[in-house]
Amino acid sequence: HRTAAVIPAAGRGVRLGPGAPKALRTLGGTPMLIHAVRAMAASRAVSLVVVVAPPEGAPEVKNLLDEHALPERTDYLVVPGGETRQESVRLGIEALPDGITTVLVHDAARPLVPVDTVDAVVEAVRDGAPAVVPALPLTDTVKQVEPREKGEPEPVVATPERALLRAVQTPQGFDREMLQRAHRSETAVGEGATDCAGMVERLGAPVVVVPGHEEAFKVTRPLDLVLAEAVLARRRA
Ligand code: C5P
Repeated sequence: HRTAAVIPAAGRGVRLGPGAPKALRTLGGTPMLIHAVRAMAASRAVSLVVVVAPPEGAPEVKNLLDEHALPERTDYLVVPGGETRQESVRLGIEALPDGITTVLVHDAARPLVPVDTVDAVVEAVRDGAPAVVPALPLTDTVKQVEPREKGEPEPVVATPERALLRAVQTPQGFDREMLQRAHRSETAVGEGATDCAGMVERLGAPVVVVPGHEEAFKVTRPLDLVLAEAVLARRRA
């Protein structure tokens, strides 16, 4: 078994407020992307990390990887990304060399995922699951609504049973063949799939959930940056 991690990092990070592309913003003085790369390379199973850079930002991202200390037993590759996350992931998968059998797909926006979570995902794939997602139970109750114009009250349509819901994180792990099949299938690629596991589901293949971790949260909004800095400071203390 050889495992590679694909890190889509081509998003602009509009919800985070004005500034650099999200993956290049710093946490504890180090770009978020470098944290994410280190989090993947920290797993002994991972022999290659493919970073999907903003379309025009590949040279800059290459320099960034050269400037920062990274584990030497891992190889690193940078490829330019696309318009959507799905497109960026596909470009990352296409760059994988022969011999890779397990693929992790990890958001650059989840810089602090602990190595134990990464290892648990890899192990579940190696044990035979074609698609594995780390996830946590929800704390908030979730309502399905009928969307209305911004600011207008939205009618509630349903309240799914909270105990049956999970919030999914990354890295999501896949049998390479399965992930490639999903990205080549028109049914799976169609609108509405916000993660790779969702695309595998559309093929009718089984997807399983393993326990996620609180520190694998996605840095999306300004408050998330405050939390991420606090988690880092606690680790360094
Ligand atoms: O926007 P969102 O937070 O869902 O992005 C998740 C991940 O997908 C981020 O790491 C982001 O950089 C990446 N992405 C990408 N290419 C895009 C859009 C998002 O690689 N076109």
